[in-house]
Amino acid sequence: MSGSAVTPWVVGNWKMNPMQAEAKELVSGLKELLKNNPIKEEDCYLGVAPTMLALSAIQADFSSATRVIYTVAQNVSIIEGTGAYTGEVSAQLLQDQQIKFVLIGHSERREIFSENTPILNQKVKHALAADLTVIYCVGESLQQRENGQAEQVVLQQICDIASVVQAEQWQKIVIAYEPIWAIGTGKTASPEDAQAMHAKIREGLTQITPFGAQIAILYGGSVKPENAVELAACPDINGALVGGASLNAESFYKIAQAFAHTK
Ligand code: PGA
Repeated sequence: MSGSAVTPWVVGNWKMNPMQAEAKELVSGLKELLKNNPIKEEDCYLGVAPTMLALSAIQADFSSATRVIYTVAQNVSIIEGTGAYTGEVSAQLLQDQQIKFVLIGHSERREIFSENTPILNQKVKHALAADLTVIYCVGESLQQRENGQAEQVVLQQICDIASVVQAEQWQKIVIAYEPIWAIGTGKTASPEDAQAMHAKIREGLTQITPFGAQIAILYGGSVKPENAVELAACPDINGALVGGASLNAESFYKIAQAFAHTK
């Protein structure tokens, strides 16, 4: 049961995975686990971010679950509305399909697809204007950490969006701190290091917005059942953004259980 004021979130980032048949299995496995051993919604919000192609199908599959599991888009266009923009999906189109959440600023988008601050700010602005909740990802590289710049980099990434998030819209922001060196590497930040960064983020958010104390700050980077309990025990870690381990129903379920029961 949650002792903290912030309800934890556990979100699975499926990235460019899996094939259709495996996705169906994953969804039915998760539904079954949640049916047999429920995790109350007030103890932990749950979401999964499938590929754009699978969003509606996965959302429909989860509609028969015994509890709400949100469907999250992994990306959104920098263009708003509708129009002649081949290959793009706008925030309004997501909203039109009842997709209410979107990941923005993931390090893979920043690095591989060159999404810089102006691009990310456009995305955040349009997503919020369409009333989506933004899971905004931040995190430092190994080199930045070794140079002692981790805190500065992460806080700057948060300050970057402050110019486009209007006062009330901070309520529609979730932060995911994902040190780049911990993503998909099996290396997790120690609970102490993660907590220290989360506390700094919390401090920064409270300076930016009166909603700072309520914003969920998720940790991401090789979260698995084996390290979820100790991460969940950290006071400023309000959940997890889970990549690899979210592709296995049981692992994802156990991480959710860790957060629901530890918080
Ligand atoms: P990982 O990915 O859990 O596989 O490290 C996390 C993420 O990139 O969101």
